[in-house]
Amino acid sequence: MTDTELLTQEQDLRGVQMLGLQLPTDPRWVNLAEMDLEEILTDHAYCEQKAATACISLIQQYPDKTEMVKSIAPIVTEEWGHFRAVLAEMEKRGLQLGRQRKDEYVNELLKFQKKGGSREDALLEKLLVCALIEARSCERFRLLSLYISDPALRDFYHRFMVSEAGHYRLFIDLAKAYSGEEKVKSRWQEYLAREAEIMQELELRGDRMH
Ligand SMILES: [Fe+2]
Ligand SMILES: [Fe+2]
Repeated sequence: MTDTELLTQEQDLRGVQMLGLQLPTDPRWVNLAEMDLEEILTDHAYCEQKAATACISLIQQYPDKTEMVKSIAPIVTEEWGHFRAVLAEMEKRGLQLGRQRKDEYVNELLKFQKKGGSREDALLEKLLVCALIEARSCERFRLLSLYISDPALRDFYHRFMVSEAGHYRLFIDLAKAYSGEEKVKSRWQEYLAREAEIMQELELRGDRMH
């Protein structure tokens, strides 16, 4: 391994550690993803759409959490803007938005949510799942922004990376505001451990963002 490769690997590891994630994405993923841009952009488009929907649901389910409503209302607009940015990129490249696919990664995370607790407990579970999806998306956008061969796409993905990093922080901060630092810390560790398992269990696919 050359010094540059070694350095790059160290940087990737730092990127993951900054987000708290336990497992870095397999470096072969970027190569797989760029083999079929129509597929990865389609999946990405629906991820953005689902992110907007998740924020709308939180507002509908917890209208009484005034601070949360105030801080995530603009995120709905931002995520919808991301969806439109992906659509525009596809159009520019003459690519067609495909159908929505089963999201195994998100489904597995949802299965891990604790059921049957209080309304507050359910909110914590939802916020942590949102935070985790943002963190993993951010890690993957970072890889695309560094290693995809098309320079225009590197810039494109860099903007998503920055934005999703902010969302990750916001969801964690909201969780702490409503459930307290200690509770968030310990449950977050459980989520991180489960997320690493899910990443290992799922097949590495270039047509999926996660
Ligand atoms: Fe987004
Ligand atoms: Fe986001």
